[in-house]
Amino acid sequence: MERLTARFKDVLGRFASGVTVITSIDGEGPAGFSCQSFSSLSLDPPLVLFCVSKSSTSWPRIAATGRFAVNILAADQQDVCRAFAVSGADKFAAVDWTRSPYGTAHLEGALATVDCHVADVHDAGDHLIVIGAVRELRDGRDHPPLLFFRGAYAQAAVR
Ligand SMILES: Cc1cc2nc3c(=O)[nH]c(=O)nc-3n(C[C@H](O)[C@H](O)[C@H](O)COP(=O)(O)O)c2cc1C
Repeated sequence: MERLTARFKDVLGRFASGVTVITSIDGEGPAGFSCQSFSSLSLDPPLVLFCVSKSSTSWPRIAATGRFAVNILAADQQDVCRAFAVSGADKFAAVDWTRSPYGTAHLEGALATVDCHVADVHDAGDHLIVIGAVRELRDGRDHPPLLFFRGAYAQAAVR
């Protein structure tokens, strides 16, 4: 099993992706976690998805609000990604963020934000597949994206 896990991570890690931070705000304050499994799903109606580990401590708080924002990270936001990948930490202390009209947290410097309400959640192994119905799309900074590839941060050769 350990060999399979290592092989799975090694092979699947060859699929490069962008990186996002999924957020919401409940009575305790903002909650969020780094997430690379984000994807667009449907144009009509507009849907997106991400996969979250059943061990996530932020997800139950986000799920209870029924909404989330996807913050698409820029190449110079590695530190933000690292901060939001630590369970239980005060993740929002080190970043500038604002409360959106939808009750989610928008991180300063993101390339774009996608606000959604939780449309569906499917069980899938040790993760959940979360489907979001898009409420608002917002452009952010014009900057290259942050990428994750083979367990490390990478940058795309784009403007
Ligand atoms: C680049 C990167 C991508 C990640 N993608 C995901 C993901 O798609 N789904 C997920 O559940 N966790 C993902 N994680 C791990 C979570 O961010 C991490 O487990 C975090 O501690 C969860 O925090 P929480 O317990 O506050 O929810 C990723 C971490 C990094 C660094």
